Amino acid sequence: MCASLVAATDDIPEVGTYLFTVREPDGSLEEVVLVDLEDGVAAWKNFCQHETDQRLDRGNGAAVRDGRLICPKHGSMFDAETGYCDNGKAAGSTLVEVDIAVRHGQVYLTDDDLEFVGEGGIDDDGSPSSTSHLTF
Ligand code: FES
Repeated sequence: MCASLVAATDDIPEVGTYLFTVREPDGSLEEVVLVDLEDGVAAWKNFCQHETDQRLDRGNGAAVRDGRLICPKHGSMFDAETGYCDNGKAAGSTLVEVDIAVRHGQVYLTDDDLEFVGEGGIDDDGSPSSTSHLTF
């Protein structure tokens, strides 16, 4: 298994999310958010299940309240730990999970289908906003 270092757990805001970009098997880019939980870290693809072009984190951290991620468009709330939504327009859906591991205060991407591209989101032109971690 190949694991890429994504961030230190200290980099994840206590309220909000840490945004990074991955490459999907088909070559497309996708955003992922890290959420600080009481006993660990969760990683979810950064889109709502009601309208999948709707980002939860628009670049400044997603809204998180009482352990739930809030969709900025219609306000559905997703459990930050399980990804499940039981309310509003996205009720009955679950966010798409991304496999990560936390070791010694560092968060690693362990999802075999995804390649780490860089911190931050995808720019409007479709390229990653940061290429500092790009490896060739
Ligand atoms: S787009 Fe997220 S609840 Fe509608």
